[in-house]
Amino acid sequence: MFRYIIAICAYQVGFLLAAKMTNPRVCVIGAGIAGLTTARYLKEDGINFTVLEATRYVGGTWRYDPRVDVDENNVTMYTSMYKHLQTNLPKPTMELPGFPLPDDAPSYPGWEDYYKYLQSYAKHFDLEKNIKFLHNVISIKRDENVWRVKHKQVVTKEEFEEEYDYVVIGTGHHSKTHMPNITGEETFKGTIIHSHSYRVPDPYKCRRVLIIGAGPSGMDISLDVATVSTTVFHSHHSTAEDLTPYPENYVKKPDVKALSESGVVFVDGTFEEIDDVIYCTGYEYYYPFLDESSGLSISHHSVIPLYRYLVNIHQPTMVLLGLVVRACVVIALDAQARYTAALINGNFNLPSHDEMMAEWQRRYDVVKSQGKPLSHIHFLEAKEDEYYADLTKESGIARVPPVMFKIRINDIKSKLENLLVYRRYTYKVLDSENFTTTLDTVQNERKNESCVP
Ligand SMILES: Cc1cc2nc3c(=O)[nH]c(=O)nc-3n(C[C@H](O)[C@H](O)[C@H](O)COP(=O)(O)OP(=O)(O)OC[C@H]3O[C@@H](n4cnc5c(N)ncnc54)[C@H](O)[C@@H]3O)c2cc1C
Ligand SMILES: *[C@@H]1O[C@H](CO)[C@@H](O)[C@H](O)[C@H]1NC(C)=O
Ligand SMILES: *[C@@H]1O[C@H](CO)[C@@H](O)[C@H](O)[C@H]1NC(C)=O
Ligand SMILES: *[C@@H]1O[C@H](CO)[C@@H](O)[C@H](O)[C@H]1NC(C)=O
Ligand SMILES: *[C@@H]1O[C@H](CO)[C@@H](O)[C@H](O)[C@H]1NC(C)=O
Repeated sequence: MFRYIIAICAYQVGFLLAAKMTNPRVCVIGAGIAGLTTARYLKEDGINFTVLEATRYVGGTWRYDPRVDVDENNVTMYTSMYKHLQTNLPKPTMELPGFPLPDDAPSYPGWEDYYKYLQSYAKHFDLEKNIKFLHNVISIKRDENVWRVKHKQVVTKEEFEEEYDYVVIGTGHHSKTHMPNITGEETFKGTIIHSHSYRVPDPYKCRRVLIIGAGPSGMDISLDVATVSTTVFHSHHSTAEDLTPYPENYVKKPDVKALSESGVVFVDGTFEEIDDVIYCTGYEYYYPFLDESSGLSISHHSVIPLYRYLVNIHQPTMVLLGLVVRACVVIALDAQARYTAALINGNFNLPSHDEMMAEWQRRYDVVKSQGKPLSHIHFLEAKEDEYYADLTKESGIARVPPVMFKIRINDIKSKLENLLVYRRYTYKVLDSENFTTTLDTVQNERKNESCVP
């Protein structure tokens, strides 16, 4: 009854009336970057909260685990890290505010440096005591005016149910694989995996490997496998003008038409003998613990309708973090976490349901008018910096400096110039708008041990 008090909040240019819930009960799901940053800001605002995390670790997808499929508790393997992964964005865009990466970490750190960084983040902000590890959320239902959250201790199998006023979902979206449906796949005699289960190149030594997809994983894994394989056939339809001088055993191919017992036919009619296939075909949005009471429409490639890419419009006490594509994801997650804490703290009020729908509808109309698939509703792309400005204007959070977006644009250009050297650039932020880069001339790439046929 008495959960709301009315507070007058001053921010930026004026005053507005904000409703603040007294002692809101807040549940954060996941202890990856989304959950950890949210925990930090809720804590700073003195708000009570519980984080439920299915594994015994913080850091989410940044933990490398040589196992695939299931973990030590027979729980679906969450992480997609592979041994040689280095970040695909430079340090300044991978750092959380007020907590820089170590000076001696490389410009594009490996997963190990970055995972340690997230572990020390959790320690530094003393977040672990608010995290219930090994608690897998199995259902979230809207019931009258509360969220009923059911979770299960994955070792003891004990089930729990609690009521919350706010639910912040930070379960990531790199664990449910998107598999292509390729004719003849069932007849293929070699191995087929998804990049989710890719760990090391070793099994591909002296083999002919087909890699499908040109997202970040497809590009990186192709080059990783090419260091040991006889040949990599990289099948994709990206039209980006890529000037990379690929190794000799890397062969660009168009889309796949069909697989056979020991080979592949491409849409241009060419055929190649292959031993193994790696699908780098991306992931699907997956929230198995939500049902229709959430008010969301969830498909493999879209979650709608969301205000400002994160607030569940029909149930605005639920926020979904990280549903932005083509952005500095870490920076975006941190900004969303600060916005979420400000919302729960009552620093600002959301607009009316109709106004939130109108914001979403405008974005939807643009996607439709451009004839793009609905998945583009999650693309920040050229709108990234404007997004940060909007979050600040509405909630009063500190603005993400425009230099972050500028660095990302530079990084994209640099990848197209040469995927083999872009990680040798060091980025230095000069001020909120400017940066410099320097090219490290020392070549320390892994030697290509490929089997020349
Ligand atoms: C291979 C790979 C490379 C990447 N490289 C980069 C990069 O270079 N730069 C970059 O900015 N981004 C990169 N990303 C994107 C990456 O997703 C983000 O950097 C960030 O880690 C996302 O954090 P998150 O907290 O949203 O999700 P996650 O890190 O996925 O964490 C989600 C957490 O939620 C937990 N969880 C899931 N379901 C439940 C449940 N039902 N109950 C309880 N807990 C649950 C999981 O165990 C996990 O700990 C990469 C992603 C992958 C997969
Ligand atoms: C936080 O939660 C604890 C335990 O539920 C409770 O004792 C405490 O009063 C709460 N504090 C606030 C400020 O709500
Ligand atoms: C692991 O889970 C699967 C299905 O969820 C089950 O069939 C199998 O018996 C379990 N294995 C162990 C060791 O518990
Ligand atoms: C795969 O494609 C075949 C033929 O086009 C179709 O019959 C089948 O239902 C598809 N399977 C899936 C999982 O989409
Ligand atoms: C960025 O650099 C330009 C050119 O040197 C300068 O005019 C501008 O003031 C700088 N921006 C900031 C925020 O200092």
